[in-house]
Amino acid sequence: MSQAKQRVSVYAPASMGNVSVGFDLLGAALAPVDGEPLGDRVHVEASDGPLSLECVGPYADLLPGNVADNIVLRCARHFLQQQGKPEQGLALTLEKNLPIGSGLGSSASSVVAALAAVNAFFDSPLSPQELLVMMGELEGQISGSVHYDNVAPSYLGGLQLMQQDGARALPGFNAWYWVVAYPGITLSTAKMRALLPTELPLATALRFGQQLASFVDACHRQDEAQALAVLKDVVAEPYRAAHIPGYQAARDKLQALGCPAVGISGSGPTLFAVAGDKTQAEAAARYLQQHYVLNARGLVRICKLDPVGVQVERGAM
Ligand code: HSE
Repeated sequence: MSQAKQRVSVYAPASMGNVSVGFDLLGAALAPVDGEPLGDRVHVEASDGPLSLECVGPYADLLPGNVADNIVLRCARHFLQQQGKPEQGLALTLEKNLPIGSGLGSSASSVVAALAAVNAFFDSPLSPQELLVMMGELEGQISGSVHYDNVAPSYLGGLQLMQQDGARALPGFNAWYWVVAYPGITLSTAKMRALLPTELPLATALRFGQQLASFVDACHRQDEAQALAVLKDVVAEPYRAAHIPGYQAARDKLQALGCPAVGISGSGPTLFAVAGDKTQAEAAARYLQQHYVLNARGLVRICKLDPVGVQVERGAM
């Protein structure tokens, strides 16, 4: 009797890098409150041929380069080489549900889903920590530098703080809504990083350290007022804001609508606004849909933190 072939499907949520106060060190996984998924999926099936990849989904047509260079295939090749396995017998499908170059952790979502899927397919030879390190390295090939503020939340869920020995979850604020708006244009993370100075003035470095320390302290004490008072970006936003069409006007309007914090999600152009209740979140979302979204590729979602991160489903074909 022939054995059923295995199939693994993995969902990895969108994420916001930096969360204003923690450049390269803080990231948050997103879950829309309407229950619709906001993240890429990768399916892995046994096949009789060479390693292959098919790309489907609403943003698949915008994937750069040819499919052989796709990051999902590169992840699978890297994993197989690292495990001493031949590059064959796997058929992968990427459901590209996140816009590329959006600041929503699109490449991280693909990388997290791909590596979690192949690892699960082979019964998890890599530990979660080994897998996370590999995810950071592979994502760095796309974004131009290794930083974990998208892969860690997409993999582990919640609000993740990068520490020297790995990522640690911070307790978030359950009442907060995170309204994210992607205008529909692409900005490359590498180019947005090139706008930043290579060194910070001492006063900026001190303010950054003080704000991040206060935010972490506020999370642990669940001191909402203190957390909001320091949810500010002194490292990247001053250099990037003018390069994101409509960002400064939208930030001013959202603050006038009463949103207690507004910032750039990752390296943009997606922005996020914190809202204290559903009514405020809906008002922010309406404004952003009308005034920040530029075309049909854009999106606005009212989110909470995704507490789960990656989700692995196994099945038989
Ligand atoms: N933290 C990085 C940056 C990547 O702001 O450049 C964010 O997605």
